[in-house]
Amino acid sequence: MGEIISGKALSKDVREQVRLDVLALQEKYGKVPHLAVVLVGEDPASQSYVRGKERACTKAGIHSTVIRKPDTISEEELLDIVETLNNDDEVHGVLVQLPLPKHIDENKVIDAIDITKDVDGFHPLNVAYMHLGRPAILPATPKGILTMLHSKNIELQGKDALIIGRSNIVGKPAAMLLMKEHCTVTIAHSRTKNLKEKCLRADIIVAAVGRANTVTADMVKEGAVVIDVGVNRVDGKLVGDCDFEAIKDKASYITPVPGGVGPMTITSLLQNTLECFERIVKP
Ligand code: GUN
Repeated sequence: MGEIISGKALSKDVREQVRLDVLALQEKYGKVPHLAVVLVGEDPASQSYVRGKERACTKAGIHSTVIRKPDTISEEELLDIVETLNNDDEVHGVLVQLPLPKHIDENKVIDAIDITKDVDGFHPLNVAYMHLGRPAILPATPKGILTMLHSKNIELQGKDALIIGRSNIVGKPAAMLLMKEHCTVTIAHSRTKNLKEKCLRADIIVAAVGRANTVTADMVKEGAVVIDVGVNRVDGKLVGDCDFEAIKDKASYITPVPGGVGPMTITSLLQNTLECFERIVKP
């Protein structure tokens, strides 16, 4: 039976460390990091994510502000809000929750965020720095995955890693970060042929497609590490992209859903907010 990597338990430890770091920064600079989140519209998933971020900030002693706007907001108004936050010396992290309404160009909004305050690591310059292996703010979900792998001292060098999913938020950056850890990386996606064959060769599988049962036990090599990024609702129940119950007996390590990668994403965001604060605030 594989070991379950609990993102919930690991998050508790890391967030406690963030809380202590915030206390130390407060002592040193007389102020705490401040994260500003912009939430447009009423999307239930986005509202729930933002509530989670707010709660986690408060518990860690990070000041958080949520600016809520109706989905009728114009692109220009939203860009003005970003600009105001960029120029506010008392704001250290700026996050615009995605997705945005169709009439707003997401790229324009991401591009407008000051890269020193880009806690999501979505700004093209941050993405470029990450790809070059230069110091960068790393996107929260792939960073959380790395923290999970490191927490168990899982050997990465020379391992075959298969990433399923090629999103800008998870798949692509996860591939880049695992390559930096000296994995041999394959990226699979919706047009990939022979997924099972590729899965069976993998020492590490990162499933990030958003479809339940994408990875089943017959697709997993004995002793593989399985990281499940999926969040799907099936018959009212939250499940990942992998058949957890069947795979856990085959894998050496596996992450559960819920309580796996999900909490680590918010944990990484807290770390990123701290990182931005330290870059911005000088004694
Ligand atoms: N929507 C889904 N995940 C994310 C995220 O990590 N950051 C932002 N800004 N929006 C999201």
